[in-house]
Amino acid sequence: MTVDAEHASPASLVKDPAEWVESRTGFRELAAALLHVRIPAEAQTLYFGGIALFLFVIQAATGTLLALYYKPSPEVAYDSVISIMNDINFGWLIRSVHHWAANLMILFVALHLLRVFFQAAFKRPRELTWIFGVCLLGVTLVFGFTGYLLPWDQRAYWATVVGTDIAGAVPIVGDQLLLLLRGGADVTAATMSRFFGIHVLVLPIALVVLMAVHLTLVHQLGLANPKKIDPMPGPPTGPTRRFFPDYVLDELIAWYFIFAILVVLASLFPASIEAKANPLETPEGTKPEWYFLAVYEFLKVVPRLIGIMLPIIGLALIAIWPFLERGPAVLMRRRKRVVVFATVVLLVGIYFTGVGLNFFPPPPGAGV
Ligand code: HEM
Repeated sequence: MTVDAEHASPASLVKDPAEWVESRTGFRELAAALLHVRIPAEAQTLYFGGIALFLFVIQAATGTLLALYYKPSPEVAYDSVISIMNDINFGWLIRSVHHWAANLMILFVALHLLRVFFQAAFKRPRELTWIFGVCLLGVTLVFGFTGYLLPWDQRAYWATVVGTDIAGAVPIVGDQLLLLLRGGADVTAATMSRFFGIHVLVLPIALVVLMAVHLTLVHQLGLANPKKIDPMPGPPTGPTRRFFPDYVLDELIAWYFIFAILVVLASLFPASIEAKANPLETPEGTKPEWYFLAVYEFLKVVPRLIGIMLPIIGLALIAIWPFLERGPAVLMRRRKRVVVFATVVLLVGIYFTGVGLNFFPPPPGAGV
């Protein structure tokens, strides 16, 4: 048999599946380009970006399963969630994993941002990687915000009222923003259908597209060396290690640990649900999710306009940070002022989050 005839036969698929696929796709070249790269031996990603990616995959899988039974209308949404928890096999576990993975994803995206920031891995030529990262952070937060409403219980309903109220207080565009978010003056069925549509369609597409660009840039530029800036373009100078299999295997171990933590959290602390939403009865102490608590508590101690504008300006500054801090220094001891400033902002954020969680006393003069 000629080589061509041998490859064409079905038996060749069983004998050498990799060769069979290769002869029909030419995938080896692509796999080599993607995997067989070298990264600086000193790169310390702490695997946070990869963990965020892993958690998104978990969210897509559990979210799809939930969507099979969830009914997106205020009359029946609450009952459909109760039914997922009580009647569907492992429904409570799927819902809990979705709940905890959402929280962990936000935590790890934030940790990833901090890692990149403190290692100055955003500096030239990685400015665009950073900007796409900020967009990913925004999408992740909106995922949390829109998902929170879907169970349509008291907590979900009133947190959305408070959250959209804050959006409505943004100067100039506030009224339009409120209308856009709620689909009317109040939180109603119109709000739920747009939150559902955004949560299950718009955001997943946006996240996948942004992530594809983000990771392509990471691949094209290689990982940053936290000790020095490598001249670009070109492979890293100094000692390197293999991305595949060495780094990939370490990353998989990190995912394995996160998966274990996720299963323990979801099993021991299942996602709860309160009474069905009642637009006529405001419950005591409505608060947003932990990742919006800092802004929420901050709003109580400063005039409303400042409390709303400062986080917006802060986010804009974060987005353009690579263009503000452009020097060649990457070591923290060479960036003392920036590091001290960022640490103070971070501690203030942690303090206000702690106030919201009742871990710390509120500052004097804080309203309720
Ligand atoms: C869903 C959100 C995100 C995902 C899945 C993600 C994923 C990743 C992954 C897998 C890497 C490779 C290195 C690593 O694991 O740390 C990376 C690198 C990077 N990310 Fe993200 N990222 C996200 C959000 C962000 C955010 C919020 C920022 C900053 C604002 C950011 C900025 C960067 C930069 C600058 C690099 C290159 C770092 C280096 O070369 O050391 N990313 N990202």
